[in-house]
Amino acid sequence: MSEIHPVDPAFAEKARIRKDDYQRMYAESVQDPDGFWKRMSERLDWITPPTKIKNVSYDPANLHIRWYEDGQLNVAANCLDRHLAERGDKTAIIFEGDDPNETRTLTYRQLYTEVCQFANTLKNLGVEKGDRVVIYLPMIPEAAVAMLACARIGAIHSVVFGGFSPDSLASRIADSKAKLIITADEGLRGGKKIPLKGNVDESLSRPGTNSVETVIVVRRTGGAIHMQSPRDRWYHTLMEGQSTACAPEPMNAEDPLFTLYTSGSTGLPKGVLHTSAGYLVYTSLTHELTFDLREDDIYWCTADVGWITGHSYVVYGPLANGATVVMFDGVPNYPDFSRFWQVVDKHKVTLFYTAPTAIRALMREGDAPVKATSRKSLRILGTVGEPINPEAWNWYYRVVGEERCPIVDTWWQTETGGFLITPLPGAIDLKPGSATLPFFGIKPAIVDAEGKVQEGACSGNLVITDSWPGQMRTVYGDHQRFVDTYFKAYPGNYFTGDGARRDEDGYYWITGRVDDVINVSGHRIGTAEVESALVAHPKVAEAAVVGCHHDIKGQGIYAFVTLNAGETGSEELKKELVAGVRKEIGAIAAPDHLQWAPGLPKTRSGKIMRRILRKIAENAPDQLGDVSTLADPGVVKNLVEKRLIK
Ligand code: PRX
Repeated sequence: MSEIHPVDPAFAEKARIRKDDYQRMYAESVQDPDGFWKRMSERLDWITPPTKIKNVSYDPANLHIRWYEDGQLNVAANCLDRHLAERGDKTAIIFEGDDPNETRTLTYRQLYTEVCQFANTLKNLGVEKGDRVVIYLPMIPEAAVAMLACARIGAIHSVVFGGFSPDSLASRIADSKAKLIITADEGLRGGKKIPLKGNVDESLSRPGTNSVETVIVVRRTGGAIHMQSPRDRWYHTLMEGQSTACAPEPMNAEDPLFTLYTSGSTGLPKGVLHTSAGYLVYTSLTHELTFDLREDDIYWCTADVGWITGHSYVVYGPLANGATVVMFDGVPNYPDFSRFWQVVDKHKVTLFYTAPTAIRALMREGDAPVKATSRKSLRILGTVGEPINPEAWNWYYRVVGEERCPIVDTWWQTETGGFLITPLPGAIDLKPGSATLPFFGIKPAIVDAEGKVQEGACSGNLVITDSWPGQMRTVYGDHQRFVDTYFKAYPGNYFTGDGARRDEDGYYWITGRVDDVINVSGHRIGTAEVESALVAHPKVAEAAVVGCHHDIKGQGIYAFVTLNAGETGSEELKKELVAGVRKEIGAIAAPDHLQWAPGLPKTRSGKIMRRILRKIAENAPDQLGDVSTLADPGVVKNLVEKRLIK
C-alpha cells in the first residue's frame, strides 16, 4: 500500500471543487460531453458563441478533431481586453530577472497597451492572419507580448526555446516558413550571456530559411550585436508612436493559434498545432481548478515559454483567468540555492509550479537553503514534466511546503495542451508519485501490447479513448504523420507514448516513455535526433542512443558509438562528439555517457536491438533477455564488459 495524504478538510471547505463535485462533474463530463463542454465554454468571451460543440473522429481513415467549430473569438482579447473593466490596474505580470535586483511589473492595462502596439507593429511589417512568426526570446515580458500580439492579429506563433542551437532554430524556421522572427540581443542565465541574436544570424545563413523578411530585436543586455539593414529592426524603435488601439481579429474556433516543435521517436521534431477556442477553454479551466485559483493569488510557474508548460500555464491559461503571473528569467541556483524561495518571499507567491528535476537538484543541497526563507505565502505546490520519485515528492511536501500545501502532480504533454491526469487539491487524496485521477472529460485506459484494454489494477500502455478540447489538431504541414504517430498503434484511441500503472483505487502512476523518446530534465529528446548528430561526424560509422538513470535529470543520455574502420576512440574524440551534439541540437541533448562500440546488437534483418542497449545502460546485464536472435551475439559481451555505469 502506498502512502496516502487525505485532503485537508479545512482546505476542502474553501476549495472550488470538493470530492462530491469531482465525482458529479466527472460523470457528467464523460456522459454528456457536449453539454459539459458547452457550459465550460461560457467562461470565455465569444464574438459568436458556438452551437456545435464536439465533432471528432479517431478513425485513422477519417481523423478529425473539432471543438466549437462554428464559434468565433479572439484569444488575446480573452486574455486582456475583457479584464480591463475590473482588473485593469491588477498586476498581470511580475517580471523577476536573472539578477535579483531586476524586477518589473505590468498591469493588465499596460500589457494590453503593449500588445496592441506590438500587434500594430507586426501589421505594419506586413504580417497577416495565418502567417508564421518565430519567437526566440528569454523569459521576459516581451515574450508574452509577442505571443499575444500574434494571437491578436491571427498570426501563428512558433516559440523556439532559447537553449536551442542555430541548427535547431533553422530547421524550425524552414518547416514553418516563418516571415518574421522576434529575438533579443542576448539572454542572461545564471549570470552568463546567451548570444540569441548571433544564433538567429547563424540560423538565417542555413538553407531553407529565406522566408524570413524581418528580425525584431529586443534590447535585453545591451551587448554588442550586428544589425543587418534593412532586415533587422529594434523592438523599442518600432514601438515608438504606435497606436495603442488594435481591434482583435475575429478568429474561428478552429483557426490555428500556435505550433510548437517537439521530439518524437523518429525523424525531425514535429510542429504540434493547437487551435484557438478549445485550447483556451481547456487551459484556463484546468489552470483555475487544479490551482484552486483565487483573485488575489500570486502564481508562479518556473517553465520557460519555449515549452508547452510556458504556453499553457505561464501565458494563456493564467492570463485568460486574470491571474497575476510571475515570469522568471533566472535559474534555481543563482545567485544561490535559495533563489526560488527568495522569489517566493519577495513576491508573496501563493501557487508554485516547477519540475521534479529542479526539486531533486535543490534537495541535494539540503534543507538549509530552503529553511533560510519564510515561504509562508505558499498555498499549493505543483510538479510537471516527468515522474516524481516519492523521495523528492516528500521533500517538496515536508520541507518546502511544511506539510501545509497539497502537491498537484500534473501529467500531460505538448500534444494534450493541458493537464489530463492531475489531482484537484480540494477533492482528491494524494499519493506521492501518482498523478492521481483524470480531469473532467478525460477517459484514460491501459492497454497491453496487442491493444487489449486492461481492467482494474493493471499496467501497460496509456491511451486516451476520447477527445478533449485542448487536444492538438494536427502536425503542421503533415497530417498523415499526426495520424500515424498517435492513432495507428491502438485504433480508436489516442496513444500517449507513456507507460502507466493503475492501482486498486483507480490512481494512475506514469512510468515513463515506452517509445524512443528520452525525458531529460522534463524535456523530450528524440534518440534519432541525437544519433543523427553523432553520425554527422566523419569518423563515426553508427550510433545508438538510449536513456539511462540520472539522479537529477531523471533520465540521462547514453550513446553507443561505432567508429569507422581504422579509427580509434579517444577522450578527445568523445569531447568532440559531445560538442557536435550540443552544436547541432543544443546543450540539453548532450550525451552524459558515450561508450565505444566495436559493433551494435542487431537482428538478422539489421535492426538495432535497443532493448538490449537499454539494459546495458541501466547496468542490468543480467536482464538482457533473449539474445539468440542477434546476428552476432558476441558484440553484447564486449558492450557489457565495457559498460560505463556499474
Ligand atoms: O512522459 C511524460 C512526461 O513528459 C512527457 C511529455 O513531455 P512534453 O510534451 O515535453 O511535455 C512536458 C510538460 C507537459 C509525457 O509523455 N510527463 C509529463 N508530466 C508528467 C510526466 N511523467 C510523469 N508525471 C508527470 N506529471
